[in-house]
Amino acid sequence: MDTLLTTDVQQAAAILREGRLVAFPTETVYGLGADATDAEAVARIFEAKGRPADNPLIVHISDRTQVEPLVANVPPFASELMDAFFPGPLTLVLPRSGRVPDAVTAGLDTVGVRMPDHHVARAFLGAAGRPVAAPSANRSGRPSPTTWQAVEEDLGGRIDAILKGDPTRVGLESTVVDCTRSAPVVLRHGSISLDDLRLVTPDARSAAGDELLAGRSPGTRHRHYRPDARVVIGPADGTSRRAAWIGLDPPANRDRDPDTYVHVRIVDDLDDYARSLFAFFRECEAMGIGVICCQPVEESGLGRALMDRLRRAAF
Ligand code: TXA
Ligand code: MG
Repeated sequence: MDTLLTTDVQQAAAILREGRLVAFPTETVYGLGADATDAEAVARIFEAKGRPADNPLIVHISDRTQVEPLVANVPPFASELMDAFFPGPLTLVLPRSGRVPDAVTAGLDTVGVRMPDHHVARAFLGAAGRPVAAPSANRSGRPSPTTWQAVEEDLGGRIDAILKGDPTRVGLESTVVDCTRSAPVVLRHGSISLDDLRLVTPDARSAAGDELLAGRSPGTRHRHYRPDARVVIGPADGTSRRAAWIGLDPPANRDRDPDTYVHVRIVDDLDDYARSLFAFFRECEAMGIGVICCQPVEESGLGRALMDRLRRAAF
């Protein structure tokens, strides 16, 4: 199949409405969209990505009025989170309504809902005029795409269109919060931190490891974020050849062994680190790098999301 590259939002929305697959930019990463009300279209997402069928999709909306038909109910604390963070890089897991196809939720009785904070995404979702199911637009297990070129690299020839936009602003996927219990539980960390959430809902907490394994966030069970190079947290050991480094500071052992790192990226700050990470993975891959060394950061705020992605990429 030919993959159309376009900047025309109306054209992209028309293709989606025909039941076909369209990748589009958001503030976090590029998504691979299908009409969330069309089970056959949604099934094509799993095929194109090679995604395990037990991993549910997030439903994207452009307007708060689209929430109600998707869900059975919205607890008051979830409404408060929407007031505070929609549109934004936050996904709320809510009890689903019968109108959401099983293909979207992987058979779970919940649905993830998110309203992206991105002008192209909002225009596209608005023109589509329906909820759009979308995972990150990468081949399953690969780093999420932060540029349209990365989408083309992974899914060119496998999807109908790519709505081209700029590189994404956040660079890590949305914070996923389970709202089906008495208080919010963070299933996946993102740029909206636990501290941010607690300003609105003070009893928000992070999921314990066993809660994740018990299947509340199926995505955490699968292989993730891996480029065709080994990812390690910390400096290269003496034996590494053709290594790369990304971090806030230069690698400590650089003077001792100047030949170790053939590609080095010193980021400006934590935001820049998050924004750059997945593109750096892909860059290293294209250079035939063997080991990508990533400087660890403090586990607070965005640092927690970053360390989560690094650990899973290095696993
Ligand atoms: O920023 C993002 O969230 C991006 C953009 C495109 O919106 N999307 C994204 O989708 O990262 P995906 O499919 O790559 O990751 C969605 C995560 C998975 O870990 C999935 O298991 C979890 O959200 N998830 C989705 N629906 C869920 C549900 N009903 N219950 C628990 N976890 C859910
Ligand atoms: Mg993903």
